Amino acid sequence: MAAAEGSSLNPLRIELDARLAKEPVPAADVMALALYHPLHGYYRQAVGPWGFEGKDYYTALDLGPLLGQALALRLEQVWEQLERPSEFTVLEPGAGRGWLGRDILNAAAGPFAVALRYIHRDDNPAARKAAEIALAPFLATNRALFVKESEPIEPFVGAVLSNELFDALPAQPWRWDGARWVREVLTENGPEWHAHDESVSAEWFESQGDGIEPGDGSVWCEKLSPVASNLANALAAGLFITIDYGDQASHLLAKGADLRRFKGHTVDGKWWEQVGECDLTADVDFTRLTVILEDSGLKEVTHESLSRWIRAHAPLAQWEAQWQELETPVRVKRMENLLQLTMPGMMGERFRVLEGWRA
Ligand SMILES: C[S@@+](CC[C@H](N)C(=O)[O-])C[C@H]1O[C@@H](n2cnc3c(N)ncnc32)[C@H](O)[C@@H]1O
Repeated sequence: MAAAEGSSLNPLRIELDARLAKEPVPAADVMALALYHPLHGYYRQAVGPWGFEGKDYYTALDLGPLLGQALALRLEQVWEQLERPSEFTVLEPGAGRGWLGRDILNAAAGPFAVALRYIHRDDNPAARKAAEIALAPFLATNRALFVKESEPIEPFVGAVLSNELFDALPAQPWRWDGARWVREVLTENGPEWHAHDESVSAEWFESQGDGIEPGDGSVWCEKLSPVASNLANALAAGLFITIDYGDQASHLLAKGADLRRFKGHTVDGKWWEQVGECDLTADVDFTRLTVILEDSGLKEVTHESLSRWIRAHAPLAQWEAQWQELETPVRVKRMENLLQLTMPGMMGERFRVLEGWRA
């Protein structure tokens, strides 16, 4: 690899090269620097990376309002189950542009809409700017508001909702080499696998694999536990719901889950290149997230594919009837939106939805 690739221009590369001259840097530390450096991190920029042409990646929200519409119905059920509290708060950490909040608020109707209050929590400056536009009518009527990630969260009744939050937390790839656990680090010569003693992640992986073989390995996200339990603890009563890509721990181990880099809608594993200029993501370990949430007192924590979740919760027949009234181009867009969310090769099987309850 070119250790000094782009170093004259890229301030993060300069910082990284100075550290590499002293010692190898774990991949998770490179991911943290690349995404969250206060000035130069990918998620600390004034202009956002989401969308199609000229952008790096899209999420379910770029495809249309159906996910928000299905969630609005699911949240209304939760409101009913909680016996219609007068205030029902939906907190969205990692809310990005606030489009999911906007789609939910637009879809909510009747007395549920009166009770619904949406909180956007994401320090990403580009996201905040876009969310101020997307949520403008709801901000004006106090049905939406912004909070900072550093603000303590007062316990509330309602839901914690996230879409693609946990895959954006720094994660460390590990492999079993047949004799010991090795972790991926960046050196002056490029990425390498180095032996390292770290019993917590090793114990977790060993408890999940049914006979671990050389080459097996997964990603370990240090912040998964503090971030998820902090959010779960804020939920006094209601639903914790998270949408993300990932799998159960044993599948990730067998697959050798790794970091991924997104740039201009192409994906590869070169997490050490163009630091701060690309998105870096890791599969979410849904088995571990389940254990963390259960330890925080949530009940009935389950996860299933997005495709199954949509089919269980979206009013598909009703949507189909409503779409007959729409102009052809809009109707086609809705159909495409539904296919993207449900087809296995698209988001349907790669994405999972986790739900957990605080009664
Ligand atoms: C992949 S983006 C997803 C954005 C949005 N949910 C969407 O689907 O378009 C991840 C976002 O999570 C935010 N984020 C990361 N860690 C966070 C945390 N601990 N609390 C709140 N937001 C966080 C980042 O700033 C980034 O905007």
